[in-house]
This record gives sequence, C-alpha cells and structure tokens, in this order.
Amino acid sequence: MPVIVGKAPGKIILFGEHAVVYGQPAIAIPVNSVKATAHIAPIIDSSQENVHIFAPDIGLNTILSKLDEDHPIAKAIGLTLEKIRINHIPAFSLQVTSTIPVAAGMGSGAAISVAIIRAVSGFFGISLPLDEVSAITFEVEKIHHGNPSGIDNTVVTYQRPILFMRENPIQFLKINLPIHWIIADSGEKTPTHKTVEGVRKLHASDITYYDEIFQKIGRIVTNARQALEDGDIDNLGLLMNENQRYLSKLEVTNPKLDSLIKAARSAGALGAKLSGGGKGGNIIALAQPNHCDDIEDALLTAGAVRIIRTILSDRGTA
Ligand code: PMV
Repeated sequence: MPVIVGKAPGKIILFGEHAVVYGQPAIAIPVNSVKATAHIAPIIDSSQENVHIFAPDIGLNTILSKLDEDHPIAKAIGLTLEKIRINHIPAFSLQVTSTIPVAAGMGSGAAISVAIIRAVSGFFGISLPLDEVSAITFEVEKIHHGNPSGIDNTVVTYQRPILFMRENPIQFLKINLPIHWIIADSGEKTPTHKTVEGVRKLHASDITYYDEIFQKIGRIVTNARQALEDGDIDNLGLLMNENQRYLSKLEVTNPKLDSLIKAARSAGALGAKLSGGGKGGNIIALAQPNHCDDIEDALLTAGAVRIIRTILSDRGTA
C-alpha cells in the first residue's frame, strides 16, 4: 500500500463572525498559503493491530487506543472509519503537520480534521464526498468550539469562497477581480469557545438590542457579497470598518487588535477588522496592491507576530 496524503487549507472569515452563530450570513475564504497535511503509511511487520499517531507540532507521539475517544484526532479517525464501515483496522502510522497558526481564527482545527479524514478514507481506497467530509469535521469542531456555526468545516472542506448561513445551502461566491488581503496575527490567543460564550451572555442580557446588532451585521454581509462580486473594493473596505464597529459592541476586540487595525488603516488599508473569534488571533486588512508593503511594515511595527498575504480571485486564493 502506498503512502496516502490528505491536505486542507487554512481559512479566514471576511465578514459576519459571531452573528453567524445566531443565523446571520457570513463570508469566509480559504487561505491556500497555509495548510494541514496528514500522511498515512501501512505498518507492514507490526505484530499488533494498531494506529500510531505522530503530531510533532503538538508534541503528540502515541497510539490510537491510548487517546481519549473525544480527542479531536481520535474522533476524526473514529468517525471516518465508522462512515466508511471499517471494523477491522490494519496497523498504520498517521503523521499530522500543519503550517496554520493555532487558535488564531485560521481554521487550524478544522483543516487538521479534513486532512485526517481525507487520508484515512483514502488509505482504504475511498474518496468521501465533500458534504460527508464537512459533516464529520463539524462533529469534531464541536469538541473545539462547543457550539460551532459550521462555517470553518465548510470553507476548509470546499476550498472556495463561500457565503455561509446555518441551515441553508452553501453559496459559492464569484469574485470579480483579484483582491489583496493582509492577515496579521496579534500573537494573543483566546479560544473561540470563550468569546462565543461571552457573546452568548451579552445576548442573553438584552436579546432585542443584540439581535438588532446581529441583523445589522447580516446586512453588512449581504452588501459585502455584492461588493465582492462587483469588485467594488472601496465599498468593501468601508463595510469591513462598519463590521468592526459592531464587533466592538459585541466586546470581542481588544487593545492589541484595535492598534493593529488602526495601523493598517493609517498605512493605507481600505478597511480592516478582526477576524474569527476575536480577543486575539488575527486582523485582516484590505489593500490596494501598491500599499501592501507599507501596510505590512506598519503592522509589524505595531506588534504583529506574523503576516500572511493572500490574493483572492475567482480561482480561490493564492
Ligand atoms: O475563531 P474562528 O475563526 O474559528 O471563528 C469562529 C467564528 C465564530 O463565528 C466566532 C464562531 C462560529 O462557530 O462561527
């Protein structure tokens, strides 16, 4: 049996995080310059039936039977084997690596699951349909996030720009012209389930007020979709800034994110906002191509620990 490789890209949310948990639309794109990879090789002369797992990025070197069944890697393997109806597991080794920043709103957990699901099903000669890969990943995401909206597993599995809305069919977006984005990692981390819980408490404290904010964010997302499809980057930038104002009202920003956003705007970004769960993680800035270097320098001076540039076009991201 040959070595089987499963891969999945990172992702970034452009518009609509948090409101998407409450049924509003959100827009996300894959980020192909970072990825998770899973390699599977058979263990030919093993006397034991077992699955060896090596994930050096998180210091994991173990066997499957020693992992808690709710460990995300064990869950991704277990649900995949269940889906493809494999009861007798031959010995194999699984190596998982990722260049996607962890807990930074770039979909690292979802991408690792997708890579594992693809490698495990591929090892048994099966190519699972995308909706099944996404559904298994969603189950694993519940371990990370508690109450995920489903946007991460969807964009990472389909690897295309999407408009996502809970309980609705996925809408794939047409992008009119190449659009340049700069993603800056604040270096601060708050797990998404914590910020989601913070927003849940706020919402419970004044349902009418926060429902209105979610609806306003939903309208921004609808307008942003149009602007993306029209290639109207000036309007797109304004919509990002407007979305950020509502994210502040949801109390998911913090001083470091605010200073990165300010630095990007001062250096010529057409718009900038936090992306993902917030209170750390990344900001994303929209840039004219000739301003990208200045914005990157300004973000590094303001304390960004890592910059990822991505260009979105109709063919996905580069
Ligand atoms: O931190 P991320 O990129 O995984 O963002 C999650 C986005 C939220 O809307 C905050 C939560 C969700 O499940 O949609």
